[in-house]
Amino acid sequence: MKSSLDYNDKRPVVILAIESSCDETSASVVADGTILSNVIATQSVHQSYGGVVPELASRAHQQHIVPVVYQALSEAKITKTMLSAVAFTQGPGLLGALLVGSSFAKSLAYGLDIPLIGINHMQAHILAHFIEDPRPTFPFLCLTASGGHTQIVRIDDYLSMTIIGQTQDDAVGEAFDKAAKIMGFPYPGGPLIDQYAKTGNARAFSFPNTSMPGYDFSFSGIKTAFLNFLNKEKSRNPDFVQENSVDICASIQQKLVDMLLDKLALAARDTGIRQVAIAGGVSANTALRENITQLGRQEDWRIFIPRLEYCTDNAAMIAMAAHYKYLGRHFADLHASPDPRLQLESGN
Ligand code: KG4
Ligand code: ZN
Repeated sequence: MKSSLDYNDKRPVVILAIESSCDETSASVVADGTILSNVIATQSVHQSYGGVVPELASRAHQQHIVPVVYQALSEAKITKTMLSAVAFTQGPGLLGALLVGSSFAKSLAYGLDIPLIGINHMQAHILAHFIEDPRPTFPFLCLTASGGHTQIVRIDDYLSMTIIGQTQDDAVGEAFDKAAKIMGFPYPGGPLIDQYAKTGNARAFSFPNTSMPGYDFSFSGIKTAFLNFLNKEKSRNPDFVQENSVDICASIQQKLVDMLLDKLALAARDTGIRQVAIAGGVSANTALRENITQLGRQEDWRIFIPRLEYCTDNAAMIAMAAHYKYLGRHFADLHASPDPRLQLESGN
């Protein structure tokens, strides 16, 4: 790998980024901070299993990675020799899935003799806010809500982030998916709950509060309460779910969204930070997007909501994070291994 870079080089900084942390194989090209392509191959193989099957995910990544990378380069009208660096998701995520992306990125960087950049997936979800306008200024708060994480993060600079609250058990995306599974929906059920909820009454059913101290969350109690509630209703009326599906979806969705926004509002009030963002797969949720917009008006916040394409897993966010790491010369060496539990720390 290139050990010394030419700091006077005036050519654009062009980075190929690869995302393979879970069940999306994605590649993106960024040139001087502008996204030129963002190709995503979704794996439908997991639908009937009620969750992502790690071994199947790794195999699907192996099948998709070459065509996805080629498509990303071709849409960006970039050839491999024009690349300044190759970036990959280092973690957190599924080890076998991460290995496919990291091995590919390492081989390419080695073959082209260009730097390699390891990216923290959760940091990238937040940096998706710098793909296009409006971009937040520092500091801002971000609620990062995905299938594996639920965090409130304070962002002081592109690579300087501090978690101020997080879930102590399940992630909110997991709670959405588990609620959907209990209702008999295929994986991932979060988007289906969102879809059904659109015509439902969010106040039709109520669920108990499960509160955590400070800015932390807990979603395991609500999942159990939801299961018990449905079992009780079904014992009285076996068709309860079919007859009330839109109201059930709207009510559980509202409960989860309220739990998220209560803590976010508390964090914003306590820190005095009035720029508030959401990120991660669950930020695609319609109720969350509408409710935070309303709350923002009440609280006089500047709200940042990513375009749907940049909410769920994608390589454009990895490319954006790589752009800032490239500027700071934060390069990985060829021995960098994927870390399924990689923590979000400053510069990581
Ligand atoms: O960020 P992401 O794509 O992958 C992870 O890093 O986990 O998030 C996936 C999660 C899944 O739990 C999925 O059900 C949830 O985001 N999700 C949604 C919606 N779209 C995706 N949950 C609720 N409403 C949605 N519209
Ligand atoms: Zn994600």
